[in-house]
This record gives sequence, C-alpha cells and structure tokens, in this order.
Amino acid sequence: MPNPTPPSTESELLRILRDAEHTYVSGEQISKKLNVTRSALWKHVSNLRQSGYTINASTKRGYKFVSAPDLLLCDEIQAHLDTSFIGSQILTYETIDSTNRAALQFGEQGLKEGLVICAESQTKGRGRLGRAWASPKGKGIYLSILLRPKLEIREIAKITLATAVTVCSAIAAETGVQAQIRWPNDVLVGDKKLCGILTEISAEADRVKHLVVGVGINVNSTAEDLPPVGTSVHLVTGKAWNRARLAARFLNEFEKTYKALQKGKFAEIVRDWESLSVLSGKNVVAKGLNGDIEGVAMGIDEEDGALWIRRDTGIQTKVLSGDIQFIR
Ligand code: BTN
Repeated sequence: MPNPTPPSTESELLRILRDAEHTYVSGEQISKKLNVTRSALWKHVSNLRQSGYTINASTKRGYKFVSAPDLLLCDEIQAHLDTSFIGSQILTYETIDSTNRAALQFGEQGLKEGLVICAESQTKGRGRLGRAWASPKGKGIYLSILLRPKLEIREIAKITLATAVTVCSAIAAETGVQAQIRWPNDVLVGDKKLCGILTEISAEADRVKHLVVGVGINVNSTAEDLPPVGTSVHLVTGKAWNRARLAARFLNEFEKTYKALQKGKFAEIVRDWESLSVLSGKNVVAKGLNGDIEGVAMGIDEEDGALWIRRDTGIQTKVLSGDIQFIR
C-alpha cells in the first residue's frame, strides 16, 4: 500500500522561505538546515522558479520568498492548512479524468482517510445524476476527499449537506460572497450555481467501506467557461481569487464539520443548513426517478438529511434524491 510521501527538499525550502515572511534568509543557513550544498540549493530554487514561484536571490543576503503561482499545488494548500488529518496527504494533478474517480480508486487501495485529490482541470468531471461538470483549466477548485466515516448508507446525504454548509462558510470567510444552498447539493448565488458537490461511496452490504466527497467551486471562471446556469466567485466580485487559499480554508472548515458529524452533532449542521437554504417554505417540485413530488419544502430530516415536502393533501413526504425546482 503506498505511504504518504515525506516532504520534498523543495517543500522544506519553501517552508523556510515563507517562515521568514518576505525577508532574506542566507544561503548558508538554508543549506545547513536542508543538509544540501550551495549549488544543490541553487538548483532547488531554480526548480521552484520554474514552477512559477518568484524568489529573489542576492549574493550578499541570500534568498527571499516573493510570491507563489496561482496553482492548486500541494505546498500552496498545505501552507494555509490547519488540520489534523484532512489533507495530511494531498495529490495534485494538472489534468485528470475525475478527482472523484481517482479518490475512490485510492480508497480501494487502502489509502488513509483525509487524502485529498486536486486537479487544475478534469476531462470527465462528474456531476450528479450522470451529468458532466465543466472543469476549465486553472479556473476552479476541483477536489475530492477520501473518508471512512462511521455512517450507515442511508445517512450519507448528511456528508453532502455538511459539505454544502462548509463550502458556503469558507467562501463567505475568504471572499465575502454569501452563497445559499438548494437541497441537496447546489451552492448558489441568486439562481446561478457557484459550486456542486458529489458524494460517491464504495459499500458492502449496508456498510460504507469508504466515501468520496467531491467539490467543484467556480472560482475565477468567466461566463464563457461556464454553462448558462453557472456563476463564479470572480463573476460575482469582479476580482481574481487565490484558489489554494480558498481550498485550504474549505478543508480547514470541513475537518471541523466532519468531526462534529462523527460525534453525532448533525442537528447543529441542520440548523446552519436551514439558515442557508433557499427552499424553506417555498413551493417546489422534486423531480426524482420515481416521478414528481409537488408541495411546500418543510426542512431537513435530522436522521438522514432527506427533504420533507408537504403536499396539498397535508401529507408530508420524504424525498431522498432528485432535482428541486421552484413553482410560482
Ligand atoms: C453537481 O452539482 O452535479 C456535482 C458536481 C461535482 C463536481 C466535482 S469537481 C471535483 C469532483 N470530481 C468530480 O468528478 N466531480 C466532483
């Protein structure tokens, strides 16, 4: 079974330079700490520059960290990470078919809970109900987290709902954009989609073996990058945002929410969810595999995260999956 890779010399070099907070660190000091020669150090600095980092070099003063590239690099996410197990291993790809597909496969191979797979672009980004997820290169956050939760299969919607709450709070904290949630997994600004969440499982009888929660956030996408129903943080704010920082903020908050969920605190998550929901009290139709259910959206079931709809007859029906549309 593959083990997490130890931090590379370049990761450690970045950490030393970052810790110096934009002041120079002498080459001699760095070489000693990394246990490498001065010429090897120079090679590592050149490699980082080639990856897009700006590092100043001065013969007298040494090296100074100036800026990082806008890439979802493992080092960039980890530099802002404050978690105990989520993201303890991060694998990043320039292009991949689907981060969810890869994370499920790594789950099968026995990799640890908390593994994060990130990509700059996806060629077969998976959406809900067999749809595709537009994943233009360098514009969004496409990431999947491998989890091994103590949950029954009927409870997995709880993870999706908890993730939606976390995405909203991370986006609000990092960018000021107040998104809302449409059950079960759409994060919206107005009626346009900012983020989608896809939870997939590998199960045995009624036990979850492992689970992958995949998150696609439209960060710096332009209107041309997205389907007509999509929007991005950039389109809402008019600014470009650092994707690695936003991804780290999401992972930091996700770990807290996930720990709460594992301690049985779903009711607290439901309360946050209700305050962000666009549905409560609205006339809706749930379009599912077994036909349409029309009525007033009442709220979330605290046992399994299903949506309760009150029909005209007064009977309340539980909806476990489907697409929700508003009716005027
Ligand atoms: C949806 O709203 O339909 C869900 C979209 C989920 C997209 C993300 S992007 C990262 C992860 N990998 C995938 O293939 N899909 C999810």
